[in-house]
Amino acid sequence: MPRYLKTTSSLIAVASLAMFLAGTHAVLGQDEAASPDETEDTVPFALPKSGPFNPADIEIKNDQSISDWFRSAHADAAAEAFRHWDEEEEITAVCATCHSGEGFRDYHGLDGTAAGSVEGPINTGGVVDCGTCHNAGLAEIEEVAFPSGLMHPVQGVEASCMTCHQGRTAGSTVVKAMADLDLDTPNSELRFINPHYATAAATWLGGYGGSGYHYDGKDYSGRFFHARPVSSCVSCHEPHTLEVAFEPCLTCHQANEPEDIRIARQSYDGSGDTNKGIKSDIQTNAATLLDMIKDYAADVAGTPIVYDGTRYPYFFTDANGDGVADQSDGQPVAYNAWTPRSLRATYNWKLVTADPGNYAHNPPYMLELLYDSIEDLSGPLGTDMQALGLLR
Ligand code: HEC
Ligand code: HEC
Ligand code: HEC
Ligand code: HEC
Ligand code: HEC
Repeated sequence: MPRYLKTTSSLIAVASLAMFLAGTHAVLGQDEAASPDETEDTVPFALPKSGPFNPADIEIKNDQSISDWFRSAHADAAAEAFRHWDEEEEITAVCATCHSGEGFRDYHGLDGTAAGSVEGPINTGGVVDCGTCHNAGLAEIEEVAFPSGLMHPVQGVEASCMTCHQGRTAGSTVVKAMADLDLDTPNSELRFINPHYATAAATWLGGYGGSGYHYDGKDYSGRFFHARPVSSCVSCHEPHTLEVAFEPCLTCHQANEPEDIRIARQSYDGSGDTNKGIKSDIQTNAATLLDMIKDYAADVAGTPIVYDGTRYPYFFTDANGDGVADQSDGQPVAYNAWTPRSLRATYNWKLVTADPGNYAHNPPYMLELLYDSIEDLSGPLGTDMQALGLLR
Protein backbone atom coordinates (compact mmCIF):
# COMPACT_ATOMS: atom_id res chain seq x y z
CA MET A 1 0.00 0.00 0.00
CA PRO A 2 2.66 2.60 0.92
CA ARG A 3 4.64 1.54 -2.13
CA TYR A 4 1.61 1.98 -4.37
CA LEU A 5 1.04 5.46 -2.98
CA LYS A 6 4.64 6.39 -3.54
CA THR A 7 4.52 5.25 -7.16
CA THR A 8 1.31 7.14 -7.77
CA SER A 9 2.63 10.35 -6.33
CA SER A 10 5.84 10.22 -8.30
CA LEU A 11 3.73 9.67 -11.42
CA ILE A 12 1.78 12.77 -10.50
CA ALA A 13 5.03 14.62 -9.94
CA VAL A 14 6.27 13.66 -13.39
CA ALA A 15 2.97 14.66 -14.93
CA SER A 16 3.00 18.06 -13.22
CA LEU A 17 6.57 18.65 -14.24
CA ALA A 18 5.59 18.00 -17.83
CA MET A 19 2.68 20.41 -17.51
CA PHE A 20 4.93 22.93 -15.82
CA LEU A 21 7.44 22.80 -18.63
CA ALA A 22 4.77 22.94 -21.31
CA GLY A 23 3.15 25.92 -19.60
CA THR A 24 6.35 27.87 -19.14
CA HIS A 25 7.42 27.23 -22.68
CA ALA A 26 4.13 28.28 -24.16
CA VAL A 27 3.99 31.55 -22.27
CA LEU A 28 7.58 32.52 -22.88
CA GLY A 29 7.09 31.48 -26.50
CA GLN A 30 4.64 34.30 -27.03
CA ASP A 31 7.23 36.89 -26.29
CA GLU A 32 10.72 35.67 -26.90
CA ALA A 33 12.40 33.02 -28.98
CA ALA A 34 9.16 31.81 -30.52
CA SER A 35 10.18 29.43 -33.25
CA PRO A 36 8.40 30.11 -36.53
CA ASP A 37 6.38 26.86 -36.41
CA GLU A 38 5.04 27.79 -32.97
CA THR A 39 1.90 29.64 -33.97
CA GLU A 40 -0.61 31.16 -31.56
CA ASP A 41 -3.00 28.23 -31.82
CA THR A 42 -0.50 25.75 -30.39
CA VAL A 43 -0.74 27.70 -27.13
CA PRO A 44 -2.97 25.56 -24.92
CA PHE A 45 -4.61 28.49 -23.13
CA ALA A 46 -5.63 32.03 -23.93
CA LEU A 47 -4.56 35.20 -22.20
CA PRO A 48 -7.13 37.98 -22.39
CA LYS A 49 -6.46 40.37 -25.25
CA SER A 50 -7.33 43.56 -23.43
CA GLY A 51 -5.40 45.36 -20.78
CA PRO A 52 -2.01 47.00 -20.77
CA PHE A 53 -0.36 44.05 -19.05
CA ASN A 54 2.38 42.11 -20.72
CA PRO A 55 2.59 38.39 -20.10
CA ALA A 56 6.35 38.79 -19.85
CA ASP A 57 5.87 41.02 -16.79
CA ILE A 58 4.00 38.32 -14.93
CA GLU A 59 6.15 35.80 -13.28
CA ILE A 60 4.67 32.57 -14.61
CA LYS A 61 5.82 29.66 -12.50
CA ASN A 62 3.39 27.24 -14.06
CA ASP A 63 0.24 27.23 -16.03
CA GLN A 64 -1.96 26.07 -13.18
CA SER A 65 -2.85 29.65 -12.23
CA ILE A 66 -3.90 30.38 -15.77
CA SER A 67 -6.11 27.35 -16.23
CA ASP A 68 -7.63 27.86 -12.77
CA TRP A 69 -8.39 31.46 -13.56
CA PHE A 70 -9.65 30.61 -17.03
CA ARG A 71 -12.42 28.45 -15.58
CA SER A 72 -13.44 31.04 -12.97
CA ALA A 73 -16.19 33.65 -13.05
CA HIS A 74 -13.52 36.35 -13.37
CA ALA A 75 -12.59 35.03 -16.81
CA ASP A 76 -16.11 34.33 -18.02
CA ALA A 77 -16.17 36.74 -20.95
CA ALA A 78 -19.72 35.63 -21.81
CA ALA A 79 -21.19 36.67 -18.44
CA GLU A 80 -23.73 39.49 -18.23
CA ALA A 81 -21.30 41.22 -15.86
CA PHE A 82 -18.91 41.67 -18.80
CA ARG A 83 -21.33 41.82 -21.77
CA HIS A 84 -23.83 44.34 -20.40
CA TRP A 85 -22.28 47.24 -22.36
CA ASP A 86 -21.80 45.45 -25.68
CA GLU A 87 -24.38 47.58 -27.48
CA GLU A 88 -22.84 50.84 -26.28
CA GLU A 89 -19.43 49.51 -27.37
CA GLU A 90 -17.83 51.21 -24.38
CA ILE A 91 -18.22 50.53 -20.66
CA THR A 92 -19.86 53.41 -18.82
CA ALA A 93 -17.16 55.06 -16.69
CA VAL A 94 -18.93 54.63 -13.33
CA CYS A 95 -19.38 50.92 -14.04
CA ALA A 96 -15.95 50.22 -15.55
CA THR A 97 -14.00 50.13 -12.28
CA CYS A 98 -15.45 46.75 -11.43
CA HIS A 99 -16.47 45.35 -14.79
CA SER A 100 -13.10 45.19 -16.55
CA GLY A 101 -9.45 45.01 -15.58
CA GLU A 102 -8.78 48.00 -17.81
CA GLY A 103 -11.39 50.07 -15.93
CA PHE A 104 -9.97 48.93 -12.59
CA ARG A 105 -6.48 50.10 -13.55
CA ASP A 106 -7.86 53.40 -14.80
CA TYR A 107 -9.78 53.95 -11.54
CA HIS A 108 -6.73 53.35 -9.38
CA GLY A 109 -4.46 55.39 -11.63
CA LEU A 110 -2.37 52.33 -12.50
CA ASP A 111 -2.54 53.32 -16.18
CA GLY A 112 -0.96 56.71 -15.55
CA THR A 113 -4.25 58.63 -15.36
CA ALA A 114 -5.59 60.32 -12.21
CA ALA A 115 -6.46 57.99 -9.35
CA GLY A 116 -10.01 57.86 -7.97
CA SER A 117 -11.85 58.21 -11.26
CA VAL A 118 -12.26 56.44 -14.58
CA GLU A 119 -11.18 58.70 -17.43
CA GLY A 120 -11.99 56.10 -20.07
CA PRO A 121 -13.02 55.28 -22.64
CA ILE A 122 -12.97 51.68 -21.48
CA ASN A 123 -13.35 48.99 -24.13
CA THR A 124 -15.92 46.26 -23.86
CA GLY A 125 -14.71 42.68 -23.86
CA GLY A 126 -12.49 42.97 -20.80
CA VAL A 127 -12.69 40.61 -17.82
CA VAL A 128 -10.97 40.51 -14.42
CA ASP A 129 -7.63 39.80 -16.08
CA CYS A 130 -4.23 38.90 -14.61
CA GLY A 131 -3.06 42.52 -14.54
CA THR A 132 -5.93 43.42 -12.22
CA CYS A 133 -4.27 41.63 -9.32
CA HIS A 134 -0.72 41.20 -10.59
CA ASN A 135 0.22 44.79 -10.82
CA ALA A 136 3.13 46.44 -9.08
CA GLY A 137 1.03 49.55 -8.48
CA LEU A 138 -1.41 47.59 -6.33
CA ALA A 139 1.08 47.53 -3.46
CA GLU A 140 0.99 51.32 -3.35
CA ILE A 141 -2.76 51.55 -2.86
CA GLU A 142 -3.14 52.25 0.83
CA GLU A 143 -6.88 52.61 1.13
CA VAL A 144 -10.06 51.90 -0.75
CA ALA A 145 -13.11 54.19 -0.73
CA PHE A 146 -16.45 52.62 0.21
CA PRO A 147 -19.90 53.90 -0.79
CA SER A 148 -20.45 55.07 2.82
CA GLY A 149 -17.46 57.40 2.45
CA LEU A 150 -15.28 55.17 4.59
CA MET A 151 -11.65 54.99 3.53
CA HIS A 152 -10.58 51.48 4.47
CA PRO A 153 -6.85 50.67 4.76
CA VAL A 154 -5.78 47.76 2.54
CA GLN A 155 -2.71 45.69 1.89
CA GLY A 156 -1.63 44.14 -1.40
CA VAL A 157 -4.19 42.14 -3.35
CA GLU A 158 -6.93 43.05 -0.85
CA ALA A 159 -7.08 46.36 -2.69
CA SER A 160 -8.51 44.51 -5.66
CA CYS A 161 -11.21 42.40 -3.97
CA MET A 162 -12.29 45.30 -1.74
CA THR A 163 -12.70 47.67 -4.68
CA CYS A 164 -14.99 45.46 -6.72
CA HIS A 165 -16.95 43.51 -4.12
CA GLN A 166 -18.10 46.49 -2.04
CA GLY A 167 -21.50 47.11 -3.68
CA ARG A 168 -22.62 50.53 -4.87
CA THR A 169 -24.70 51.94 -2.04
CA ALA A 170 -24.60 52.52 1.71
CA GLY A 171 -27.14 52.95 4.48
CA SER A 172 -26.62 56.68 3.97
CA THR A 173 -28.01 56.33 0.42
CA VAL A 174 -31.29 55.17 1.97
CA VAL A 175 -31.25 57.89 4.64
CA LYS A 176 -30.90 60.49 1.92
CA ALA A 177 -33.76 59.07 -0.15
CA MET A 178 -36.08 58.95 2.88
CA ALA A 179 -35.35 62.59 3.70
CA ASP A 180 -37.91 63.54 6.35
CA LEU A 181 -40.88 61.88 4.67
CA ASP A 182 -43.57 60.31 6.84
CA LEU A 183 -42.51 56.75 7.63
CA ASP A 184 -45.71 55.01 6.55
CA THR A 185 -46.98 57.19 3.72
CA PRO A 186 -46.41 55.77 0.24
CA ASN A 187 -44.49 58.10 -2.02
CA SER A 188 -44.28 57.45 -5.76
CA GLU A 189 -40.99 59.36 -5.92
CA LEU A 190 -39.25 56.66 -3.88
CA ARG A 191 -37.44 54.00 -5.91
CA PHE A 192 -36.01 50.68 -4.77
CA ILE A 193 -32.35 51.08 -3.85
CA ASN A 194 -30.31 48.12 -5.09
CA PRO A 195 -27.06 47.46 -3.21
CA HIS A 196 -25.69 45.71 -6.35
CA TYR A 197 -24.20 42.21 -6.44
CA ALA A 198 -21.59 39.94 -4.86
CA THR A 199 -21.19 42.45 -2.03
CA ALA A 200 -18.87 40.31 0.10
CA ALA A 201 -16.53 43.10 1.19
CA ALA A 202 -19.47 45.24 2.32
CA THR A 203 -20.73 42.35 4.44
CA TRP A 204 -17.28 41.65 5.79
CA LEU A 205 -16.73 45.19 7.08
CA GLY A 206 -20.13 45.15 8.80
CA GLY A 207 -21.35 48.24 10.62
CA TYR A 208 -17.94 49.84 10.24
CA GLY A 209 -18.33 49.67 6.46
CA GLY A 210 -21.77 51.24 6.75
CA SER A 211 -23.36 49.28 3.90
CA GLY A 212 -26.57 48.47 5.76
CA TYR A 213 -29.36 50.78 6.87
CA HIS A 214 -28.73 51.28 10.57
CA TYR A 215 -31.76 51.92 12.77
CA ASP A 216 -31.58 54.71 15.33
CA GLY A 217 -30.41 53.69 18.75
CA LYS A 218 -28.95 50.33 17.63
CA ASP A 219 -25.34 49.22 17.68
CA TYR A 220 -23.95 47.15 14.84
CA SER A 221 -21.11 44.64 14.75
CA GLY A 222 -18.10 45.82 12.82
CA ARG A 223 -15.68 43.94 10.66
CA PHE A 224 -15.80 40.16 11.10
CA PHE A 225 -12.29 39.39 12.25
CA HIS A 226 -12.92 35.65 12.35
CA ALA A 227 -9.72 34.15 13.77
CA ARG A 228 -6.12 34.20 12.72
CA PRO A 229 -4.98 33.20 10.12
CA VAL A 230 -8.33 33.89 8.47
CA SER A 231 -7.57 37.53 7.84
CA SER A 232 -8.44 38.33 4.26
CA CYS A 233 -10.49 37.29 1.23
CA VAL A 234 -7.73 35.06 -0.07
CA SER A 235 -7.45 33.27 3.29
CA CYS A 236 -10.56 31.38 2.17
CA HIS A 237 -10.87 31.96 -1.58
CA GLU A 238 -8.24 30.54 -3.89
CA PRO A 239 -7.54 33.70 -5.93
CA HIS A 240 -7.70 32.00 -9.34
CA THR A 241 -10.48 29.40 -9.05
CA LEU A 242 -12.22 31.67 -6.48
CA GLU A 243 -13.36 28.52 -4.74
CA VAL A 244 -13.34 28.06 -0.98
CA ALA A 245 -11.26 25.07 0.07
CA PHE A 246 -13.16 23.42 2.90
CA GLU A 247 -10.37 21.37 4.40
CA PRO A 248 -8.53 24.25 6.12
CA CYS A 249 -11.80 25.21 7.85
CA LEU A 250 -11.73 21.88 9.65
CA THR A 251 -8.71 22.96 11.68
CA CYS A 252 -11.14 24.98 13.73
CA HIS A 253 -14.64 23.85 12.74
CA GLN A 254 -16.48 20.55 12.83
CA ALA A 255 -18.93 20.31 9.96
CA ASN A 256 -19.68 18.46 6.73
CA GLU A 257 -19.67 21.55 4.56
CA PRO A 258 -19.28 25.32 5.02
CA GLU A 259 -23.06 25.78 5.20
CA ASP A 260 -23.21 23.53 8.28
CA ILE A 261 -20.70 25.54 10.30
CA ARG A 262 -21.98 26.97 13.54
CA ILE A 263 -20.28 28.47 16.59
CA ALA A 264 -23.26 30.34 18.03
CA ARG A 265 -24.91 28.54 20.91
CA GLN A 266 -28.15 30.41 20.67
CA SER A 267 -30.87 30.11 18.08
CA TYR A 268 -31.57 33.37 16.22
CA ASP A 269 -34.52 32.26 14.16
CA GLY A 270 -36.88 31.09 16.87
CA SER A 271 -36.46 27.41 15.97
CA GLY A 272 -34.38 26.59 19.04
CA ASP A 273 -32.26 24.35 16.78
CA THR A 274 -28.53 24.93 17.27
CA ASN A 275 -27.38 21.86 15.36
CA LYS A 276 -27.72 23.44 11.94
CA GLY A 277 -25.35 25.91 10.32
CA ILE A 278 -25.64 29.62 11.11
CA LYS A 279 -26.54 30.05 7.44
CA SER A 280 -29.91 28.51 8.17
CA ASP A 281 -30.76 31.12 10.85
CA ILE A 282 -29.85 33.91 8.42
CA GLN A 283 -31.94 32.38 5.64
CA THR A 284 -34.95 31.79 7.87
CA ASN A 285 -34.93 35.34 9.19
CA ALA A 286 -34.48 36.70 5.67
CA ALA A 287 -37.55 34.70 4.57
CA THR A 288 -39.53 36.04 7.54
CA LEU A 289 -38.52 39.59 6.62
CA LEU A 290 -39.57 39.14 2.98
CA ASP A 291 -42.97 37.84 4.11
CA MET A 292 -43.38 40.88 6.34
CA ILE A 293 -42.35 43.24 3.53
CA LYS A 294 -45.17 41.71 1.45
CA ASP A 295 -47.68 41.98 4.31
CA TYR A 296 -46.70 45.57 4.96
CA ALA A 297 -47.05 46.49 1.26
CA ALA A 298 -50.54 45.03 1.10
CA ASP A 299 -51.87 45.98 4.53
CA VAL A 300 -50.10 49.23 5.43
CA ALA A 301 -48.93 50.81 2.15
CA GLY A 302 -52.08 49.54 0.42
CA THR A 303 -50.43 48.23 -2.78
CA PRO A 304 -49.38 44.55 -2.84
CA ILE A 305 -45.83 43.79 -3.98
CA VAL A 306 -44.22 40.84 -5.78
CA TYR A 307 -40.56 39.92 -5.81
CA ASP A 308 -38.88 38.53 -8.94
CA GLY A 309 -35.21 37.82 -8.30
CA THR A 310 -34.46 37.42 -12.00
CA ARG A 311 -35.58 40.86 -13.06
CA TYR A 312 -34.29 44.32 -12.18
CA PRO A 313 -35.61 46.22 -10.14
CA TYR A 314 -36.84 42.99 -8.50
CA PHE A 315 -39.94 44.44 -6.80
CA PHE A 316 -43.13 44.99 -8.79
CA THR A 317 -46.68 46.16 -8.15
CA ASP A 318 -49.49 43.67 -7.91
CA ALA A 319 -52.53 45.90 -7.48
CA ASN A 320 -55.06 43.05 -7.67
CA GLY A 321 -53.03 40.88 -5.30
CA ASP A 322 -53.02 37.81 -7.60
CA GLY A 323 -49.32 37.21 -6.97
CA VAL A 324 -48.36 38.25 -10.52
CA ALA A 325 -46.68 41.56 -11.38
CA ASP A 326 -48.90 44.13 -13.11
CA GLN A 327 -47.93 44.73 -16.73
CA SER A 328 -47.66 47.92 -18.71
CA ASP A 329 -46.59 47.79 -22.39
CA GLY A 330 -45.59 44.18 -21.86
CA GLN A 331 -43.24 45.13 -19.00
CA PRO A 332 -43.79 44.48 -15.30
CA VAL A 333 -44.48 47.69 -13.38
CA ALA A 334 -41.72 48.57 -10.90
CA TYR A 335 -43.11 48.88 -7.37
CA ASN A 336 -44.19 52.48 -6.84
CA ALA A 337 -45.76 52.60 -3.39
CA TRP A 338 -42.64 52.53 -1.22
CA THR A 339 -42.77 54.16 2.17
CA PRO A 340 -39.54 55.08 3.96
CA ARG A 341 -40.19 52.16 6.31
CA SER A 342 -40.60 49.55 3.56
CA LEU A 343 -37.74 51.02 1.55
CA ARG A 344 -35.19 50.65 4.33
CA ALA A 345 -36.30 47.15 5.32
CA THR A 346 -36.26 45.98 1.70
CA TYR A 347 -32.85 47.52 1.18
CA ASN A 348 -31.46 45.59 4.14
CA TRP A 349 -33.12 42.39 2.93
CA LYS A 350 -31.56 42.75 -0.51
CA LEU A 351 -28.15 43.61 0.94
CA VAL A 352 -28.13 40.47 3.07
CA THR A 353 -29.33 38.22 0.26
CA ALA A 354 -27.02 39.80 -2.35
CA ASP A 355 -24.13 37.98 -0.71
CA PRO A 356 -24.30 34.18 -1.01
CA GLY A 357 -21.36 33.90 1.41
CA ASN A 358 -22.94 36.16 4.04
CA TYR A 359 -22.86 33.47 6.75
CA ALA A 360 -19.07 33.16 6.46
CA HIS A 361 -18.39 36.84 5.77
CA ASN A 362 -20.19 38.35 8.76
CA PRO A 363 -23.06 36.47 10.39
CA PRO A 364 -23.55 38.87 13.35
CA TYR A 365 -24.07 41.89 11.10
CA MET A 366 -26.46 40.01 8.84
CA LEU A 367 -28.55 38.84 11.79
CA GLU A 368 -28.66 42.33 13.28
CA LEU A 369 -29.85 43.98 10.07
CA LEU A 370 -32.55 41.33 9.65
CA TYR A 371 -33.72 41.51 13.26
CA ASP A 372 -33.97 45.29 13.30
CA SER A 373 -35.82 45.40 9.98
CA ILE A 374 -38.29 42.76 11.19
CA GLU A 375 -38.78 44.64 14.43
CA ASP A 376 -39.36 47.89 12.58
CA LEU A 377 -42.09 46.37 10.38
CA SER A 378 -43.66 44.54 13.31
CA GLY A 379 -44.90 47.86 14.76
CA PRO A 380 -47.34 48.92 12.03
CA LEU A 381 -48.16 45.27 11.24
CA GLY A 382 -49.03 44.56 14.86
CA THR A 383 -46.78 41.48 14.88
CA ASP A 384 -45.84 40.16 18.32
CA MET A 385 -42.01 40.17 18.33
CA GLN A 386 -41.95 38.06 21.51
CA ALA A 387 -44.00 35.36 19.80
CA LEU A 388 -41.54 35.20 16.88
CA GLY A 389 -38.87 34.27 19.42
CA LEU A 390 -36.02 35.79 17.41
CA LEU A 391 -32.70 36.85 18.90
CA ARG A 392 -30.56 39.69 17.66
C1 HEC B 1 -18.09 48.59 -6.93
C2 HEC B 1 -17.97 47.72 -8.06
C3 HEC B 1 -19.08 47.77 -9.09
C4 HEC B 1 -19.54 48.86 -9.76
C5 HEC B 1 -19.09 50.31 -9.64
C6 HEC B 1 -20.55 48.37 -10.66
N1 HEC B 1 -20.68 47.01 -10.53
FE1 HEC B 1 -21.97 45.82 -11.53
N2 HEC B 1 -21.28 44.18 -10.53
C7 HEC B 1 -20.23 44.18 -9.65
C8 HEC B 1 -19.93 42.83 -9.26
C9 HEC B 1 -18.82 42.39 -8.32
C10 HEC B 1 -20.84 42.01 -9.95
C11 HEC B 1 -20.84 40.49 -9.95
C12 HEC B 1 -22.03 39.84 -9.43
C13 HEC B 1 -22.01 38.39 -9.81
O1 HEC B 1 -22.51 38.07 -10.90
O2 HEC B 1 -21.46 37.56 -9.07
C14 HEC B 1 -21.69 42.88 -10.73
C15 HEC B 1 -22.73 42.46 -11.54
C16 HEC B 1 -23.40 43.27 -12.43
C17 HEC B 1 -24.37 42.81 -13.38
C18 HEC B 1 -24.79 41.36 -13.58
C19 HEC B 1 -25.92 41.06 -12.67
C20 HEC B 1 -26.42 39.67 -12.86
O3 HEC B 1 -27.57 39.45 -12.47
O4 HEC B 1 -25.66 38.83 -13.37
C21 HEC B 1 -24.82 43.90 -14.07
C22 HEC B 1 -25.86 43.92 -15.18
C23 HEC B 1 -24.13 45.04 -13.54
N3 HEC B 1 -23.28 44.63 -12.54
C24 HEC B 1 -24.33 46.33 -13.99
C25 HEC B 1 -23.63 47.43 -13.52
C26 HEC B 1 -23.83 48.78 -14.02
C27 HEC B 1 -24.81 49.16 -15.11
C28 HEC B 1 -22.96 49.58 -13.34
C29 HEC B 1 -22.77 51.08 -13.48
C30 HEC B 1 -23.96 51.90 -13.44
C31 HEC B 1 -22.23 48.72 -12.40
N4 HEC B 1 -22.65 47.44 -12.56
C32 HEC B 1 -21.27 49.18 -11.52
C33 HEC B 1 -19.57 45.29 -9.19
C34 HEC B 1 -19.79 46.60 -9.59
C1 HEC C 1 -8.41 38.28 -8.46
C2 HEC C 1 -6.98 38.45 -8.36
C3 HEC C 1 -6.07 37.61 -9.25
C4 HEC C 1 -6.18 37.41 -10.58
C5 HEC C 1 -7.24 37.94 -11.53
C6 HEC C 1 -5.05 36.59 -10.96
N1 HEC C 1 -4.30 36.31 -9.87
FE1 HEC C 1 -2.57 35.20 -9.82
N2 HEC C 1 -2.48 35.38 -7.81
C7 HEC C 1 -3.33 36.16 -7.05
C8 HEC C 1 -2.92 36.07 -5.67
C9 HEC C 1 -3.59 36.76 -4.50
C10 HEC C 1 -1.79 35.22 -5.63
C11 HEC C 1 -0.98 34.82 -4.42
C12 HEC C 1 -1.46 33.49 -3.91
C13 HEC C 1 -0.79 33.10 -2.62
O1 HEC C 1 -0.05 33.91 -2.07
O2 HEC C 1 -1.03 31.98 -2.22
C14 HEC C 1 -1.54 34.81 -6.99
C15 HEC C 1 -0.50 33.97 -7.37
C16 HEC C 1 -0.14 33.73 -8.68
C17 HEC C 1 0.99 32.93 -9.08
C18 HEC C 1 1.95 32.23 -8.16
C19 HEC C 1 1.54 30.77 -8.01
C20 HEC C 1 0.42 30.60 -7.07
O3 HEC C 1 -0.62 30.04 -7.48
O4 HEC C 1 0.54 31.01 -5.89
C21 HEC C 1 1.01 32.93 -10.44
C22 HEC C 1 1.99 32.23 -11.33
C23 HEC C 1 -0.14 33.71 -10.90
N3 HEC C 1 -0.82 34.16 -9.79
C24 HEC C 1 -0.46 33.95 -12.20
C25 HEC C 1 -1.65 34.54 -12.62
C26 HEC C 1 -2.04 34.67 -14.01
C27 HEC C 1 -1.20 34.24 -15.19
C28 HEC C 1 -3.26 35.26 -14.03
C29 HEC C 1 -4.17 35.52 -15.21
C30 HEC C 1 -4.42 34.38 -16.06
C31 HEC C 1 -3.62 35.53 -12.65
N4 HEC C 1 -2.63 35.08 -11.84
C32 HEC C 1 -4.78 36.17 -12.26
C33 HEC C 1 -4.40 36.90 -7.49
C34 HEC C 1 -4.88 36.92 -8.80
C1 HEC D 1 -12.15 44.37 -11.32
C2 HEC D 1 -13.15 43.94 -10.38
C3 HEC D 1 -12.94 42.68 -9.57
C4 HEC D 1 -11.87 42.36 -8.77
C5 HEC D 1 -10.59 43.14 -8.59
C6 HEC D 1 -12.21 41.14 -8.09
N1 HEC D 1 -13.43 40.71 -8.51
FE1 HEC D 1 -14.35 39.01 -7.95
N2 HEC D 1 -15.79 39.32 -9.35
C7 HEC D 1 -15.92 40.45 -10.13
C8 HEC D 1 -17.03 40.28 -11.04
C9 HEC D 1 -17.50 41.29 -12.07
C10 HEC D 1 -17.56 38.99 -10.80
C11 HEC D 1 -18.72 38.31 -11.51
C12 HEC D 1 -18.20 37.69 -12.78
C13 HEC D 1 -19.22 36.87 -13.51
O1 HEC D 1 -20.42 37.06 -13.33
O2 HEC D 1 -18.77 35.99 -14.30
C14 HEC D 1 -16.76 38.43 -9.72
C15 HEC D 1 -16.97 37.18 -9.15
C16 HEC D 1 -16.35 36.73 -8.00
C17 HEC D 1 -16.73 35.56 -7.25
C18 HEC D 1 -17.92 34.69 -7.56
C19 HEC D 1 -17.52 33.44 -8.22
C20 HEC D 1 -18.70 32.65 -8.74
O3 HEC D 1 -18.50 31.48 -8.92
O4 HEC D 1 -19.78 33.25 -8.99
C21 HEC D 1 -15.88 35.45 -6.18
C22 HEC D 1 -15.89 34.38 -5.10
C23 HEC D 1 -14.96 36.56 -6.27
N3 HEC D 1 -15.26 37.32 -7.39
C24 HEC D 1 -13.95 36.82 -5.35
C25 HEC D 1 -12.96 37.77 -5.54
C26 HEC D 1 -11.77 37.88 -4.73
C27 HEC D 1 -11.44 37.00 -3.56
C28 HEC D 1 -11.05 38.92 -5.25
C29 HEC D 1 -9.69 39.41 -4.80
C30 HEC D 1 -8.62 38.43 -4.78
C31 HEC D 1 -11.79 39.46 -6.37
N4 HEC D 1 -12.95 38.74 -6.51
C32 HEC D 1 -11.39 40.53 -7.15
C33 HEC D 1 -15.13 41.57 -10.05
C34 HEC D 1 -13.92 41.63 -9.41
C1 HEC E 1 -14.10 32.63 6.30
C2 HEC E 1 -13.84 32.38 4.93
C3 HEC E 1 -14.17 33.47 3.93
C4 HEC E 1 -13.63 34.74 3.84
C5 HEC E 1 -12.60 35.39 4.75
C6 HEC E 1 -14.21 35.34 2.67
N1 HEC E 1 -15.09 34.48 2.08
FE1 HEC E 1 -16.20 34.81 0.44
N2 HEC E 1 -17.22 33.09 0.73
C7 HEC E 1 -16.93 32.16 1.71
C8 HEC E 1 -17.92 31.09 1.65
C9 HEC E 1 -17.97 29.87 2.54
C10 HEC E 1 -18.80 31.43 0.60
C11 HEC E 1 -20.02 30.65 0.12
C12 HEC E 1 -19.63 29.42 -0.62
C13 HEC E 1 -19.20 29.68 -1.99
O1 HEC E 1 -19.87 30.43 -2.71
O2 HEC E 1 -18.16 29.12 -2.40
C14 HEC E 1 -18.32 32.69 0.04
C15 HEC E 1 -18.91 33.34 -1.03
C16 HEC E 1 -18.39 34.46 -1.66
C17 HEC E 1 -18.91 35.07 -2.85
C18 HEC E 1 -20.13 34.60 -3.61
C19 HEC E 1 -19.77 33.48 -4.52
C20 HEC E 1 -20.94 33.01 -5.33
O3 HEC E 1 -21.11 31.80 -5.39
O4 HEC E 1 -21.66 33.85 -5.91
C21 HEC E 1 -18.11 36.14 -3.16
C22 HEC E 1 -18.25 37.09 -4.33
C23 HEC E 1 -17.09 36.20 -2.14
N3 HEC E 1 -17.28 35.17 -1.24
C24 HEC E 1 -16.08 37.14 -2.09
C25 HEC E 1 -15.29 37.36 -0.97
C26 HEC E 1 -14.48 38.55 -0.77
C27 HEC E 1 -14.33 39.68 -1.76
C28 HEC E 1 -13.91 38.42 0.46
C29 HEC E 1 -13.05 39.44 1.19
C30 HEC E 1 -13.71 40.73 1.44
C31 HEC E 1 -14.34 37.15 1.01
N4 HEC E 1 -15.18 36.55 0.12
C32 HEC E 1 -13.93 36.64 2.24
C33 HEC E 1 -15.89 32.21 2.61
C34 HEC E 1 -15.11 33.33 2.84
C1 HEC F 1 -8.14 29.43 12.85
C2 HEC F 1 -9.44 28.90 13.15
C3 HEC F 1 -10.51 29.04 12.09
C4 HEC F 1 -10.46 28.69 10.77
C5 HEC F 1 -9.30 28.09 10.01
C6 HEC F 1 -11.77 28.97 10.23
N1 HEC F 1 -12.58 29.49 11.19
FE1 HEC F 1 -14.52 30.02 10.97
N2 HEC F 1 -14.58 30.68 12.88
C7 HEC F 1 -13.54 30.62 13.78
C8 HEC F 1 -13.91 31.32 15.00
C9 HEC F 1 -13.06 31.48 16.24
C10 HEC F 1 -15.23 31.81 14.78
C11 HEC F 1 -16.07 32.68 15.72
C12 HEC F 1 -15.69 34.10 15.41
C13 HEC F 1 -16.59 35.13 16.06
O1 HEC F 1 -17.76 34.84 16.32
O2 HEC F 1 -16.11 36.26 16.27
C14 HEC F 1 -15.62 31.37 13.46
C15 HEC F 1 -16.85 31.62 12.90
C16 HEC F 1 -17.27 31.12 11.68
C17 HEC F 1 -18.63 31.17 11.19
C18 HEC F 1 -19.82 31.74 11.92
C19 HEC F 1 -20.41 30.72 12.85
C20 HEC F 1 -21.44 31.26 13.76
O3 HEC F 1 -22.16 30.46 14.39
O4 HEC F 1 -21.58 32.49 13.87
C21 HEC F 1 -18.63 30.59 9.96
C22 HEC F 1 -19.82 30.38 9.05
C23 HEC F 1 -17.26 30.18 9.67
N3 HEC F 1 -16.46 30.50 10.76
C24 HEC F 1 -16.85 29.62 8.49
C25 HEC F 1 -15.54 29.25 8.23
C26 HEC F 1 -15.12 28.71 6.96
C27 HEC F 1 -16.02 28.47 5.77
C28 HEC F 1 -13.79 28.46 7.07
C29 HEC F 1 -12.85 27.89 6.04
C30 HEC F 1 -12.86 28.54 4.73
C31 HEC F 1 -13.38 28.85 8.41
N4 HEC F 1 -14.48 29.33 9.06
C32 HEC F 1 -12.11 28.74 8.91
C33 HEC F 1 -12.34 30.01 13.56
C34 HEC F 1 -11.86 29.55 12.34
